[in-house]
Amino acid sequence: MMKAAYYRKQGPARDVLEVGEVAEPVPGVGEVRVRIAVSGLNPSDIKARTGFSASMPYPRVIPHQDGAGVIDRVGDGVPVERTGERVWVYEAQQGSPNGTAAEYVVVPSHKAVELPAGVSMDVGATLGIAALTAHRCLLSDGSIRDKRVLVHGGAGAVGSAAIQLAKWAGAWVATTISNAAQAAVARAAGADLIIDRHRESTVDVLMGATDGEGVDRIVDVDLIANAATNLACSSGGAVVSAYALQQATDAVSVPMLEAMKKGIVYRFVYIYSVPLSEKLVAIRDITQCLSAGAYMPEIGMKVRLNQIVDAHDAMESSTVIGKILVDVSSEAL
Ligand SMILES: NC(=O)c1ccc[n+]([C@@H]2O[C@H](COP(=O)([O-])OP(=O)(O)OC[C@H]3O[C@@H](n4cnc5c(N)ncnc54)[C@H](OP(=O)(O)O)[C@@H]3O)[C@@H](O)[C@H]2O)c1
Repeated sequence: MMKAAYYRKQGPARDVLEVGEVAEPVPGVGEVRVRIAVSGLNPSDIKARTGFSASMPYPRVIPHQDGAGVIDRVGDGVPVERTGERVWVYEAQQGSPNGTAAEYVVVPSHKAVELPAGVSMDVGATLGIAALTAHRCLLSDGSIRDKRVLVHGGAGAVGSAAIQLAKWAGAWVATTISNAAQAAVARAAGADLIIDRHRESTVDVLMGATDGEGVDRIVDVDLIANAATNLACSSGGAVVSAYALQQATDAVSVPMLEAMKKGIVYRFVYIYSVPLSEKLVAIRDITQCLSAGAYMPEIGMKVRLNQIVDAHDAMESSTVIGKILVDVSSEAL
């Protein structure tokens, strides 16, 4: 048996999340088993638990897509040499009832990616959804070396991942924030220009800083609110990548003539549907970025497994800046 957090019905964290003993998973063909050290939270895990994304997909769900740990067993078809490898895990709970909020998780071998030497388990557990989404937004449309990038919401998990990956890839990066604490996170991530979106005009500041030319890539957390800003700030042929919805409605209105004249490309990103071949390209780049020491995400909160409700509540109420992690190491259980 192993210790795990799980829910058997959807609802508020305090009502549905339990911590207890469940059967240890066994890896099948092409799978590895990871002894989880740190489990990483994402808004997606909250949406799954509350029923926002879909109704209850399995009788019992162990939450969380992301995590980091050590491979302790491999299934048939996986080189036995992978045993003992330090890995980060992504999309563990996609298509499976069992995520990373447990002592062990079994995933297809490709979802357990070797962590470069010296990269901590905490950083490994932050990667999954945030880094893969940021990469998809930034680098699906060619090199961004010497290009100009605008990241809306640069203190968010995806936003700060995007700043770091864009800097690693050789871009100049502007970002928007809401307050001083967020500015500090964006600065630490490497942003070249930080704009307070409530006190300054993003368009004026950005156009001033780019000699009126605008930006070549936009990574957008709120396309509906930012549509006009994006059009005004885009250079010819810019790519606007939208990965999130902040409103109940999902209908976007775009002034087409202006967008056509600028030749703007809109890219909609949903990480779960990105083809594996493209995720593998992203993983290669993320590994290089990690190895170069260029990826150091802000960790906002880390709790023990039996405090998982506090972690979910903090994410749901947006009270923490930085990634929220759950310690599943043997010392913390
Ligand atoms: N499509 C996908 O595959 C995918 C992948 C990952 C995440 N997501 C979604 O993306 C969203 C963000 O995820 P996350 O993990 O990065 O969350 P997070 O860490 O909470 O970050 C969200 C950030 O967005 C900022 N923000 C909100 N509205 C904004 C606006 N109009 N302009 C600029 N910044 C704004 C917030 O700042 P303020 O405090 O100023 O509001 C916050 O810093 C979630 O809804 C998540 O479900 C989607």
